[in-house]
Amino acid sequence: MANVAITGAGRGIALELVKLHLAKGDRVFALLRSPDGAEELQGIADGSGGLVTLHAMDVADDASVKAGAADTGTEAIDVLYNVAGVSGNTTSELESADFADWLDVFNINVNGPMRVFQAFLPRLKPGAKVVSFGSQVGASTWPYAGYEVYSASKAALHRLMLSVALGMKDRGIIAISVHPGWVQTDMGGAQADLTPQESAEGIAALTSTLTPEMSGGFYKWNGEPHAW
Ligand SMILES: NC(=O)c1ccc[n+]([C@@H]2O[C@H](COP(=O)([O-])OP(=O)(O)OC[C@H]3O[C@@H](n4cnc5c(N)ncnc54)[C@H](OP(=O)(O)O)[C@@H]3O)[C@@H](O)[C@H]2O)c1
Repeated sequence: MANVAITGAGRGIALELVKLHLAKGDRVFALLRSPDGAEELQGIADGSGGLVTLHAMDVADDASVKAGAADTGTEAIDVLYNVAGVSGNTTSELESADFADWLDVFNINVNGPMRVFQAFLPRLKPGAKVVSFGSQVGASTWPYAGYEVYSASKAALHRLMLSVALGMKDRGIIAISVHPGWVQTDMGGAQADLTPQESAEGIAALTSTLTPEMSGGFYKWNGEPHAW
C-alpha cells in the first residue's frame, strides 16, 4: 500500500487517479480547493473505509498549501501527483495580454507544484515520486501557436521539475513531468482523444515503473519519453 497525495482531486484526471489508487488499495490524500462542493469525491471517500480523505488546498496560496499538507498528518508520502492546473486565457494574446491573468496562471501552474513539493518535502523519503502535470504545448518540439501563457507556464514547470530532480538526486527522490494526452475533461473538451480513465491508467502505470535514471524526464501518459 502506497501513500498517495493528489492535487486538484475534485474532478478531471486527478479524480480518476483517486479512483485508480483506491482500487489498488492505496491510501489517498485528495487535495482540492473546495471539499464542500466535491460530491463525487466525497462519495468515494465515504465508501473507502478511510483510505481516501479530503483536504482543502488551494495551490495558489502559501498558507493553504501548508495547512492542507499539515492536515494530511505526518506519514511519508510515496507518490505526489501535482495535477491542479489552469489554462488561462485561451485566445491568442500576442497583441494584447491580460498580465494579471498571466500572473495567476504562473502562480497556479508553476509556483503551485513547487509550493506543494516543498510542503511535502520533509515526508518524501528515498524512492518517493513527484509527478507533475505538464503539457505537450510546453515543448519546443510541439509547434502550437496560441495559449501563450499556458504553454510558457508548462515549459517553466518542465524545467523546474528537472531542477527538482537534479537537486533531489542524492536524496533518492524522483521527479518527472508528464503530458497526460488530450483528455476529455473540462479543460480538454468532449472531443479530446482520451478518457480521463485512460490517461490516469497510463500515468499510474508509468509512475509505478519510474526509476532514478528516469528522474528529470518529460513523458507521455503512455510512458514514452516526450521530446522537450
Ligand atoms: N485535459 C487535457 O487535454 C490536458 C492536456 C495537457 C495537460 N493537461 C494538464 O493536466 C492537468 C489536469 O487537467 P484536467 O484536464 O484534469 O483539468 P480540469 O478538468 O480542468 O481540472 C483542473 C483541476 O485543477 C484544479 N485547480 C485549478 N486551480 C487550482 C488551485 N488554485 N488550487 C487547487 N486546485 C486547482 C481544479 O480544481 P477546481 O475544481 O477547484 O477548479 C480541477 O480539479 C492540468 O495540469 C492540465 O494543465 C490537461
